[in-house]
Amino acid sequence: MEVIDFKNNIDKDKLNMISKSLQNGELVIFPTETVYGIGANALNKDAVDNIFKAKGRANDNPLIVHISNFDMLKELVYEPTDIEKKLIDAFMPGPFTLILKKKNIIPENVSCGLDTVGIRFPENNIAREIIENTNLPIAAPSANISSKPSGTKVEDIIEEFQDKVSYIVDGGETKIGIESTVVKVIDNIPTILRPGKITPEDIKEVVGCVKIDEHVYKKATGKVESPGMKYKHYAPSTPCLLVYSDNNQELINLIKENITANTSIIGCVEHKSYFPNHKYHVYGHKENNDEISHNIFSLLREVDKDKSDLIIIEGVKKQGLGIAIMNRLIRSCAYNYKER
Ligand code: TXA
Ligand code: MG
Repeated sequence: MEVIDFKNNIDKDKLNMISKSLQNGELVIFPTETVYGIGANALNKDAVDNIFKAKGRANDNPLIVHISNFDMLKELVYEPTDIEKKLIDAFMPGPFTLILKKKNIIPENVSCGLDTVGIRFPENNIAREIIENTNLPIAAPSANISSKPSGTKVEDIIEEFQDKVSYIVDGGETKIGIESTVVKVIDNIPTILRPGKITPEDIKEVVGCVKIDEHVYKKATGKVESPGMKYKHYAPSTPCLLVYSDNNQELINLIKENITANTSIIGCVEHKSYFPNHKYHVYGHKENNDEISHNIFSLLREVDKDKSDLIIIEGVKKQGLGIAIMNRLIRSCAYNYKER
């Protein structure tokens, strides 16, 4: 494994090396604007198999396929409907994944037997250059061992993947920090299967309607629209509790009522001084959801090093990007959530 530093510029020779390795069916970790992805040639069944092995991913949880131009889209999926076209025009490239009817060129294991595939056209320059130069669609789930927080910087993931991939491309910290909004148009209504930076309001503005899948804050069992909803996600090894109140004093009270001597806290900088005797990790300023989403996954990894017996995490308002933050945090806490 070699780490390739593209933080300041994309070296053409190194880019060619990366493309060769992807064309040969090897695995490469690369940055996107959301989180790092662990990628392989989406048209090579064996390469795709190796992604599942490297992550320890359940074999019914499909991968999304990354493209760098709209000709690729045409090869992979059938003609999108008018509503789907509007979504593509509005949100691609960007932190957005659209579930579309797949063609047979995509191997079965990418979509785990479903007749659909998630397509994502990333905005991040390094991701786009890699895909474009390789001239292949790239299947890539988030770069993390299954159940762990997604990787948002190379230092967080190098240990768990160094023996499993050919290259790790370093693009610095990912901008958004949580994964793309996943949308499927069901009965002509764009339905959010996984919330993200593209919010329900953004989608409503473009097509006039939007639905949020009922499992966004709820544990899913049995048959679900998106298999990823069923699995343990984003979890530190230490047990976590998520707390939230619109009322600031109540929020502080909720933390105080649940705290033990050996509790770590993840919360906003404004509340740090209330807990001088505890390890307090700042995720950003209150209500600055861009800052919070950028920092949260790395903090969820870091806080394990405290060796506390409990992590209390301060929630945010379930609005805009806050919907996505709460969707991830509720899972980090295994649905251990108190709101007042
Ligand atoms: O931002 C992102 O989307 C990142 C970067 C690397 O692009 N990728 C990512 O992939 O988060 P992954 O595999 O960790 O999450 C993809 C989600 C999973 O929850 C999966 O179940 C769902 O998308 N998904 C994939 N294909 C699907 C399909 N055909 N129908 C419904 N859900 C699907
Ligand atoms: Mg993931």
